[in-house]
Amino acid sequence: MDQINKLVRKNILDLVSYSCARDEYTGTQGTFLDANESPYGDLNRYPDPRQHLLKSLWAKEKDIDAEQVFVGNGSDEVIDLLFRVFCEPGKDKVIAFTPGYGMYRVSAAINNVELIELPLGDDFELLVDEVLPFFTDPAIKLMFVCSPNNPTGNCMDAEVLEELVQRFQGIVVVDEAYIDFCPDKTKTSWIDKYPNLVVTQTMSKAWGLAAARIGFALSNPSIVGLLNKVKPPYNVSTPNQEQAIQTLLDKHQVVNNIRQILDERAALVKQLEALDVVLQIFPSDTNFLLVRFKDAEAIYQALISKSVIVRNRNILVSGCLRISIGTKLEQEKLITVLKRITNEEGIIY
Ligand SMILES: Cc1ncc(COP(=O)(O)O)c(C=O)c1O
Repeated sequence: MDQINKLVRKNILDLVSYSCARDEYTGTQGTFLDANESPYGDLNRYPDPRQHLLKSLWAKEKDIDAEQVFVGNGSDEVIDLLFRVFCEPGKDKVIAFTPGYGMYRVSAAINNVELIELPLGDDFELLVDEVLPFFTDPAIKLMFVCSPNNPTGNCMDAEVLEELVQRFQGIVVVDEAYIDFCPDKTKTSWIDKYPNLVVTQTMSKAWGLAAARIGFALSNPSIVGLLNKVKPPYNVSTPNQEQAIQTLLDKHQVVNNIRQILDERAALVKQLEALDVVLQIFPSDTNFLLVRFKDAEAIYQALISKSVIVRNRNILVSGCLRISIGTKLEQEKLITVLKRITNEEGIIY
């Protein structure tokens, strides 16, 4: 772990984190007069700052140890905390890949950390030769690899990714926000092997809890401890923890929903393939499709005018819109509108 500590900002290593009332007395029974809470109401008590039950359930679900789990207010909070732990503002740098998830860039900018954006290949794969030359720069502390990737939908090749984890001198963050749609491809089993690996996951996608803001960092207990040190004391509210726990305890519905989403994804591919305005549908391991259209901007605007909202990714991937998988009814609406706004020559009305 000495190697990891060398990557941590000195002020964070030296930090004595805030000790809140629920850290100092962890019992659940008693007359609580220690946290300046109101004695009245249903939400009057502070939440469990260490989210014990939620951590143990997620650990069980993902076949890892509870000490390897950090809970964030969404995985976006985890991303920001990783910057704060490892990157000295104005000095350190991070690597991310393009096209990729936009928050790495935003978090880098907020933390005044230089972002080196490296291109993915023609099939959105990692290009080892583009990456390795940067590994000699000791200022590069983090490398974000999104797998499955947003907005392209593909997983990164496991062998290539493992080579990068082995050779990078900093922390590799594998963002697995969409992993529950392709659970075989998770890299959580690497956590025991590679101390410089952090896997981030979320309950916002397959688990259907985007509103509850529950994200995870899965890593060795040292990195989990560093994230705990810098997080706000009560970063996940009690109602949100309870909802996440309930969902994990009764995951039958989530399992069904995932199956349904995968079926609807296959159906949507078929329906889109039949349309002349669709040029290309990229393979997806996620709950969205990246689709290249004949005139993406016009299609995007025409869809909006009919109250069908997809994500315009034309700037990131030329000619492309990103379409989330919806219910059967929502997809019928999308296809009906797409047919109505285009004619056989692909002209948009
Ligand atoms: C790749 C990726 N990572 C992280 C997130 C953030 O997820 P959360 O809702 O857990 O903050 C998203 C959200 O769209 C995402 O696409």
